[in-house]
Amino acid sequence: MTAPKKLFIKTYGCQMNVYDSERMAEALGGRGYVETQTPDDADMILLNTCHIREKAAEKVYSELGRFKGLKAERPDLKIGVAGCVAQAEGEEIMRRAPLVDLVVGPQSYHRLPEMEAKTRQGEKALDTDFPEEDKFEKLTSRPKAARGPTAFLTVQEGCDKFCAFCVVPYTRGAEVSRPAERILTEARDLVERGVREITLLGQNVNAYHGAGADGDWSLARLIWALNDIDGLERIRFTTSHPNDMSDDLIEAHGTCAKLMPYLHLPVQSGSDRILKRMNRSHTAESYLRLIERIRAARPDILMSGDFIVGFPEETEADFRATMDLIEEVNYGYAYSFKYSTRPGTPAAERAQVDEAEKSDRLQRLQALITRQQRAAQDAMVGRVVKVLFEKPGRFDGQMVGKSDYLHAVHVAGSGAATGDIRPVRILSSGTNSLAGEALPAA
Ligand code: SAH
Ligand code: SF4
Ligand code: F3S
Repeated sequence: MTAPKKLFIKTYGCQMNVYDSERMAEALGGRGYVETQTPDDADMILLNTCHIREKAAEKVYSELGRFKGLKAERPDLKIGVAGCVAQAEGEEIMRRAPLVDLVVGPQSYHRLPEMEAKTRQGEKALDTDFPEEDKFEKLTSRPKAARGPTAFLTVQEGCDKFCAFCVVPYTRGAEVSRPAERILTEARDLVERGVREITLLGQNVNAYHGAGADGDWSLARLIWALNDIDGLERIRFTTSHPNDMSDDLIEAHGTCAKLMPYLHLPVQSGSDRILKRMNRSHTAESYLRLIERIRAARPDILMSGDFIVGFPEETEADFRATMDLIEEVNYGYAYSFKYSTRPGTPAAERAQVDEAEKSDRLQRLQALITRQQRAAQDAMVGRVVKVLFEKPGRFDGQMVGKSDYLHAVHVAGSGAATGDIRPVRILSSGTNSLAGEALPAA
């Protein structure tokens, strides 16, 4: 028996990368690798990268620079780049960072074991194809080990929307949905291993239209089937596009017991002129009406969103329209970014907003969002919410978990174990989390 080789994976970007990293680790498990938490003793380092904004992409090269010393000490160490930077830059990565042995795009992960073998022969390996075969089914099935109470499950990948700022359609390719039965099998397998909450993932998850036994299934149909799995207690999904929020999905938010009252629904801007220039194909008004319908189905739903400030040609008046939309929606959470030029996307060629102006707008927008977020949290004080405990907290006897609304909740002396779901009375609201006391299980 040879000693297992060690694999260090560092993951950047979205939750789909987190899911992919798990699957890549499993695939390389078949080549004798076990995961390690530090690059220092690794036989292989894999960076699973993100290309969404310039800073995210540049991080990869500075990180690779830091591995130079390690590689000089241990020439057997193999270094790989996966994810969206790998897809976007391909061979260019090996030119810019000659220490890289392997570059693999997100659609080719099932070929990783062969590629790794090739690097062990002293060759470089590059694969950024969009192959016909389905990577999910070619990846080895999940090992049967127990795992934490929450899991991601990718159901849909890629995007056909081509927003003018975004690299995802180029790095992840066309929209593809996995067959429903395969997802249900994977979900049951996760539940058998201790998972109680599953977050369904897709770049446009609500555009899901996977093959079912009786024709294509919508995301709502899939959620209803998951709702029937004993032992699975909570279902979430992300990220949704406003144009794909179908009636059955809105209705499920009101009627499906395990579907959690939290919805991430990015709008990007509140100015119709900018939305049009972004190629978003919805208006501020249609988005607001949509949220009305969602809230009619589930009045307590916590809304979250994404915003880009300083998109090319955005004026102060456009920005104010975004602020007005935020005031009207009243978000419980939001992510906001300064527009970042991405080579090859249509908006990269347009008149850019001054950097100082972008920073100023971002600050104002974030101040408003922070106020709303804090108000949503404060409104939880005194209420009883259900918390799924995920891990012990920093203090003795403390447990940390998430409420139905995805708020982080700290509970002292509850006697609860990881994986328990308990009613908790919220006692106070902090900067980014709530504190509460556990009540006897209902
Ligand atoms: N599929 C999702 C999100 C994809 S990327 C959707 O359609 O909303 C996540 C977020 O990154 C986007 O919602 C957007 O707010 C932000 N983003 C994407 N490209 C960007 C860019 N070039 N500059 C700044 N932010 C960007
Ligand atoms: Fe990017 Fe737009 Fe597709 Fe979302 S919908 S992944 S923002 S192109
Ligand atoms: Fe980044 Fe690719 Fe996800 S660009 S956000 S890792 S889809």
